[in-house]
Amino acid sequence: MQVTGKILEVRKIISSARAEGKRIGFVPTMGALHEGHLSLIKAAGADCDFVAVSIFVNPIQFVPGEDYEQYPRPIEDDIEKSRRAGVSLLFNPSVDEMYPQEQLTRVYVKKLTENLCGRFREGHFEGVTTVVTKLFNIVQPDISYFGQKDAQQALVIKRMVADLNMPIEIKIRPTIRERDGLAMSSRNQYLNEAQRKQACCLYQALCDAREMIRSGEKKSEHIIKRMSDIIKNAGPCEIDYISIVDTETIEDVEQINKPVLIALAVKIGPARLIDNVIVDSNGNDVIIT
Ligand code: PAF
Repeated sequence: MQVTGKILEVRKIISSARAEGKRIGFVPTMGALHEGHLSLIKAAGADCDFVAVSIFVNPIQFVPGEDYEQYPRPIEDDIEKSRRAGVSLLFNPSVDEMYPQEQLTRVYVKKLTENLCGRFREGHFEGVTTVVTKLFNIVQPDISYFGQKDAQQALVIKRMVADLNMPIEIKIRPTIRERDGLAMSSRNQYLNEAQRKQACCLYQALCDAREMIRSGEKKSEHIIKRMSDIIKNAGPCEIDYISIVDTETIEDVEQINKPVLIALAVKIGPARLIDNVIVDSNGNDVIIT
């Protein structure tokens, strides 16, 4: 595995892989790698001959007051995990390497970024789409992989790639969960033992929502009320949102008669956790790819 923080070096490595006819898979991350990231790397390895991973805690996607400074950066551990996962190239640039001068250019996807996390993290998605565009321009992958846990992010990136004619296939892979259902996230490590136990209420609420739809409930309001009760009863927390939205437009849905994304963001102690499920109007899981 080659490890570099330099853009020019990445370009050289990628062009020689291309010259050998290799197909490039790319997994952009902010590090603190867990099984969720490793499943994306595995998917990339299954499709491609060369797997690039980036580790970059991107300052411009954090809103003031968020956890940019505290975000875990266990780089040695991440290098070891990447090596063991069969990664070909690990790109871990510094902030100066990625943003060497005042950046006057931003990439912004309208509409899809306005609901859910967009309502609570102003500028977050613009930070994500801008850095992902830069990373795509640096790595120039054939396929890039994103997790369904960040469903809104994945849908926004899919749309950006389509709108801007980027020659990259975006693949969305299922959320990887702990044994009790908690979605894997680098931010789970902020939780103490009691908060960690409490946090499994998020997936319980999502499963309950799915069951309600399976039993014939179609009104989002009723489902959201029940989910909110489950989460509040589990312990102290701050609910940013519990929403049921159209999987294409990310607009709120009142009556469930087509596939929906049931999504939530809840602060438990120091961690802001997000999770979701995607189901059709009968409550069957829908796989987005
Ligand atoms: O999902 C993440 O880890 C980040 O938002 C991403 C896609 C690596 C961009 O910084």
